[in-house]
Amino acid sequence: MPTTVITGANRGIGLELAAQCLKRGDTVIAGCRSPGDAHELMGLAPERILELDVGDEASIASFARSIEGPIDLLINNAGTSASNLGLSRDRAGVMDAPIDVTLDLIRINGLSAASVTRNLVDCLEAGSQVANITSQIGSMVVGANFNDLPYATSKAVMNMVTVQLASQLKDAGISVVAFHPGWVRTDMGGSGADLSVEESAQGILATMQTFEHADSGSFLRWDGSVHPW
Ligand SMILES: NC(=O)c1ccc[n+]([C@@H]2O[C@H](COP(=O)([O-])OP(=O)(O)OC[C@H]3O[C@@H](n4cnc5c(N)ncnc54)[C@H](OP(=O)(O)O)[C@@H]3O)[C@@H](O)[C@H]2O)c1
Repeated sequence: MPTTVITGANRGIGLELAAQCLKRGDTVIAGCRSPGDAHELMGLAPERILELDVGDEASIASFARSIEGPIDLLINNAGTSASNLGLSRDRAGVMDAPIDVTLDLIRINGLSAASVTRNLVDCLEAGSQVANITSQIGSMVVGANFNDLPYATSKAVMNMVTVQLASQLKDAGISVVAFHPGWVRTDMGGSGADLSVEESAQGILATMQTFEHADSGSFLRWDGSVHPW
């Protein structure tokens, strides 16, 4: 049975990824900030639910120490928005956004993918895969017109982390890929978004099942199509 580790697995896309991985028979290790409150996740009965705050290095290290591996698929999904950090949308633009909030979001949404992967690298082996759930907003072409400095820069950092990890882990046979999950109906995406969590998660998991190691370092959409950087 493949082992899949998912961060931010208590709601939204992460919860649905956990549900679909469990349905297909994976052993799922789920990370979330408040395991005691993760009632929907508990209802899915994954192998383990571990505490993980991806904005906190000590929490990431403790999470990783609890996992023995090998891990077949690591999904760096946890992420948030500047508004969740208390910044109103009208103050998030490049001319206004406080640098401290921007740096906080870069740590949570971007650098955490490097930290979680580094901390778990001993559990990864040839054939293991890392999927980073980024956003099209992190691309230079789409992000240019999305005036939210913290979110856009944080996902641009995740994209850079993806290509650097892919480069460093290529010879070890470990694939790393960045996914734009689509505009998805979650707390973050809102009820008017294009895709259901089921469609997004199904596409990401199906794409990873046929993913070729030679394509490590790619930026893909949930449906497997290539996204421009
Ligand atoms: N929905 C979209 O349209 C969309 C589009 C592009 C990219 N994305 C990306 O997709 C990923 C999942 O988003 P979503 O739509 O499912 O959002 P969501 O419903 O808001 O869920 C976000 C998840 O991330 C967790 N999280 C937030 N900060 C965390 C932290 N510091 N440590 C650990 N977990 C943390 C949340 O846990 P708590 O319950 O503890 O807050 C929650 O489980 C994110 O990386 C997001 O940026 C989403």
